[in-house]
Amino acid sequence: MAKITISVIKADVGGFPGHVDVHPRLMEIARKRLSEAKKKKTIIDFYVTHCGDDLQLIMTHRKGVDSQSIHKLAWDTFVAATAIAKEMKLYGAGQDILKDAFSGNIRGMGPGIAEVEFEERKSDPFVVFMMDKTEPGAFNLPMYKIFADPFNTAGLVIDPTCHAGFRFEVWDILEHKKIVMDAPEETYDILAMIGAKSRYVIKRVFPKPGSKVPEKEAAACISTEKLYEIAGEYVGKDDPVAIVRCQSGLPALGEVIEPFTFPHLVSGWMRGSHNGPIMPVDQKHARCTRFDGPPRVMALGFQIADGDLIGPVDLFDDPAFDGARTKSWEVADYMRRHGPFEPHRLPMEDMEYTTLPGVMKKLHDRFEDLDKIEQKK
Ligand code: F6R
Ligand code: MG
Ligand code: MG
Repeated sequence: MAKITISVIKADVGGFPGHVDVHPRLMEIARKRLSEAKKKKTIIDFYVTHCGDDLQLIMTHRKGVDSQSIHKLAWDTFVAATAIAKEMKLYGAGQDILKDAFSGNIRGMGPGIAEVEFEERKSDPFVVFMMDKTEPGAFNLPMYKIFADPFNTAGLVIDPTCHAGFRFEVWDILEHKKIVMDAPEETYDILAMIGAKSRYVIKRVFPKPGSKVPEKEAAACISTEKLYEIAGEYVGKDDPVAIVRCQSGLPALGEVIEPFTFPHLVSGWMRGSHNGPIMPVDQKHARCTRFDGPPRVMALGFQIADGDLIGPVDLFDDPAFDGARTKSWEVADYMRRHGPFEPHRLPMEDMEYTTLPGVMKKLHDRFEDLDKIEQKK
């Protein structure tokens, strides 16, 4: 039988109110569309949810990654939800629908995509992470910790099936290049790149050759679509998603969610222009409020049984993450006190894709050349 594919495809097709949440009617139409597709056997199973203002479609099927029919299903679902968003005059209706017509693959059209294909194991748990008000590089730090940091993942040290480490596929999203690197052998080189998270992003993580899990089957995949590259201007942050498979030769579920006990600084937040802490939240709190944030991450845990989704469990709905939440509002307070000053506001080069250049343009002609003034003296 063909392998199983999990496809997580998301888009902001209208916020409510502003950029806070997704209206229940948009989720309703998405559920209707996907249940029709389930009846027609295009997909095996699905789960529809939202993280902040992003509508999230989690689907299982046997058509592989980049399947035209699955991408078209997601595209048509977002288009149908956009029609309702427009009718209700929701905010930014159709925001991530950046192209007029579907052209075979949803990549490069606005929505974010993460997909993994694998032979279903005896038992197969996985986590879908969803972030709002931030960019794909926000996953660099947690992915590194999960798959390469022995202080996070005990299995790297004490489990012979994890001990060899993992392989990272890193994308240079400015130059459109990729490199595959091994941990722990090339740890310092990996960190040299992925620390620059607005440019180098982890796209996939693979088991190493000889691992219990086939080396070609990605253990993790992150959506790396950059909206400004597609739209040519700022239209909102990319709000990435990730799928991470767990257990039996892969990091344990608890190791996979452990990095989120530290609310690391990510860029995004208000107007996609600020650094702030990422707060782990349950579904109820997956709504960006304060200063359009702070950026949030939600984690749903599933088992898969012949393509059927068992779950989810709302993994951050747990007092074990209260400390991270407290820390993140403390850090949010501290960062906010900087107002329009860096490093709360992003550095100038990252502001290139925001609305700031529009303000700077106005001042352009008023600048006087200091060297010329000196020569005249
Ligand atoms: C961040 C985001 C919001 C908006 C902000 C201004 O990703 O989407 O913070 O940038 O609310 O929105 P506009 O310009 O639409 O009024
Ligand atoms: Mg929005
Ligand atoms: Mg969003």
